[in-house]
Amino acid sequence: MKIIDKIDGMKRLRRRLAEPVGLVPTMGYLHQGHLALVKRARAENPSVVVSIFVNPTQFGPQEDFDSYPRDTNRDLALLGKEGTDVVFMPSVAEMYPEPFNSWIEVGKVTERLEGASRPGHFKGVTTVCAKLFNIIQPTTAYFGQKDAQQAVVIKKMVADLNMNLEIVTIPTVREPDGLAVSSRNTYLNPHERQAAVVLYQALSLAQQLWSQGERDAHRLRQEMIGLVKKQPLASIDYISVADTETLDELDMVNPPALVSLAVKIGNTRLIDNIVLQ
Ligand code: PAJ
Repeated sequence: MKIIDKIDGMKRLRRRLAEPVGLVPTMGYLHQGHLALVKRARAENPSVVVSIFVNPTQFGPQEDFDSYPRDTNRDLALLGKEGTDVVFMPSVAEMYPEPFNSWIEVGKVTERLEGASRPGHFKGVTTVCAKLFNIIQPTTAYFGQKDAQQAVVIKKMVADLNMNLEIVTIPTVREPDGLAVSSRNTYLNPHERQAAVVLYQALSLAQQLWSQGERDAHRLRQEMIGLVKKQPLASIDYISVADTETLDELDMVNPPALVSLAVKIGNTRLIDNIVLQ
């Protein structure tokens, strides 16, 4: 496994990689969700590149950039076991040399949900992903359904700007009780960890009502809100039933529909989603 921290070195190595090349972009502190992406990339490509970069430009000023969990040695050991070919882990100065003046902004699908709650977040995500795509030139890049809006935004950027790669989305990896695996779960104390299952319970309730024939999106949102409000440690940021591509809120559920929510458990903001089909 080659570990590269310079852009020039990555570009030079890229020319020698066997095609096709799969890329898994991450911010490190790897867990089973990340590793599912790496396994999928490994199964589909002779060359697998994983990037580890905690991207400062996608964190708001009040967000957790400084405290975001990091453990490079553990990450490298896990990636070694998965048979990763290349780990690209640049510094912030390498990715954003001063002055840095070019940004990618995707309109519309970034305005709602995470975009509304985290102004500037997707501008940071799309810019860093465009840079990673330019540096690594993957055939395919792998993203998790866990961050459903992120995957929609990246696909829109790739389509709108005619970027030369495929975007593949893989299903959300969950803990046995249904909680979506996330690096931010490490912030939860034992009480909060128990309470955090309420996100999955709310999604499961929506799935169940949908299966029983409920088609009124407003009713689904209300039922989910009612369930989450019963959990004293939870405070709702948003609960949404939206079109899977435009992310416009629905009146009537028209499959496929994206049911997503952001809930704070104590001080930790968690997101999750399911697709009704
Ligand atoms: P990060 O949060 O590290 O996630 C990296 C990738 O892992 C994303 O595509 C995310 O959707 C996926 N992922 C996270 N948890 C998952 C789970 N439980 N199941 C399946 N996939 C999961 O997302 C980012 O980093 C950054 O925004 C990034 C794209 C790297 C740009 O900086």
